[in-house]
Amino acid sequence: MANFLINAAGIIASIAVPLAQLAKEEQGATTSFSIGIGGAIGNYPGFNADGSVPHVAFWDVNGGRIGQYKGDANGHLNQNLDWSQSISNDQTEPKGSPAQPEYISVVAEESDAVCISYIYASGNGAQYAWYGDMGWTCGADWHYSNFTVGDGHYQPKCVWIDSDHSNGLRFQGLSLHFPDFTASQTGQQDEYNNNLDTLCKSDPRMKFWPGIVPDDETPIFRPPLVYNPDGSDANPSLVINKSKRSSIESSRPFKRAGLPGRHLGAGHLIVSHFESHSAKDLCESATSIGADFVSMIEGIYCDMAVKEWWYLCSTSMVTGCFDLTKKAMVGNVPGIAANGTATAINGRVIQSRDTASGRLIPVKSYDTSVTWG
Ligand SMILES: *[C@@H]1O[C@H](CO)[C@@H](O)[C@H](O)[C@H]1NC(C)=O
Ligand SMILES: *[C@@H]1O[C@H](CO)[C@@H](O)[C@H](O)[C@H]1NC(C)=O
Ligand SMILES: *[C@@H]1O[C@H](CO)[C@@H](O)[C@H](O)[C@H]1NC(C)=O
Repeated sequence: MANFLINAAGIIASIAVPLAQLAKEEQGATTSFSIGIGGAIGNYPGFNADGSVPHVAFWDVNGGRIGQYKGDANGHLNQNLDWSQSISNDQTEPKGSPAQPEYISVVAEESDAVCISYIYASGNGAQYAWYGDMGWTCGADWHYSNFTVGDGHYQPKCVWIDSDHSNGLRFQGLSLHFPDFTASQTGQQDEYNNNLDTLCKSDPRMKFWPGIVPDDETPIFRPPLVYNPDGSDANPSLVINKSKRSSIESSRPFKRAGLPGRHLGAGHLIVSHFESHSAKDLCESATSIGADFVSMIEGIYCDMAVKEWWYLCSTSMVTGCFDLTKKAMVGNVPGIAANGTATAINGRVIQSRDTASGRLIPVKSYDTSVTWG
């Protein structure tokens, strides 16, 4: 667990808010936002992996509504898209007042899942950023993305939202209190590191919702939070929501899929050269969901259907490994299934086993693949 926390803190600390990427803040009573839609499942004929356009709503420090972007049931967002919009502040009192968008909710209205890598927002002089890693830290469904942020060395994770919970996805939406994810506030990171509950068990701070209506109110800190000069909470006990076990873990985490090959992003392979991507971590996480993944840095392939990882084949490893050129597992029982393909003998399907581990060699094939980094 310690690892999770250190990484999370490192992310907040090392990523300068890349606001150049944000839609230029318009003057007057508007609120702008950008959402990074990760590409963790691929897109190919017969499989529409583009996500539905979510519903986005903003509130000010006191929980006063600012405005909303109405999601589009029929519209679709491509993967690997920086989706930027500006809305007018037509729900403020009085209508059309400038406001700082401290609270946001993002809700999937349709069944095509989107994987959110980052959310930036700005309004009335305030600029905010949040990364998918914060959701991952608290146990949201996740995968990797290939957006590069900060000084160019980090690719944030993305977290899934989906309205119908197909493919084992647990959450329909998320809500956040943006000021609690500020890069310069070292006291805030220390507090999260020392007491994860201040991040993960605080409904107003960050909550992933199994079911949420787009126009719902969002949890608000009332009265507004008081912070120490270093950004930590003046009174953490006012922050932690004791009525809940956790804002995220209230739902059952994703379990191994039943049938090999039947999982979100099946048939798509992502091959990543990024240092920040670990196929081993992806495979060993109970909450990761998405396409099979190769880390070139690690030399490891993750079979997401059953959450098992294998080494890439090399001169020193020629069986029980993943052949990147053929994009298939290599078995080690010559004559039966040298390439991992199940072979029927007397009507029974025989799969080869890895001699080193005794594990069955899975039969994998891909319709599409992409290279990242
Ligand atoms: C905890 O959540 C409940 C229900 O959302 C809310 O009424 C309560 O005020 C919350 N407490 C804190 C400390 O946020
Ligand atoms: C694997 O080998 C079998 C037997 O040689 C062959 O029929 C099959 O097409 C091969 N599969 C792949 C994916 O190369
Ligand atoms: C990011 O991924 C997309 C497809 O998934 C690919 O087209 C693009 O080249 C990738 N970018 C980088 C920097 O790897």
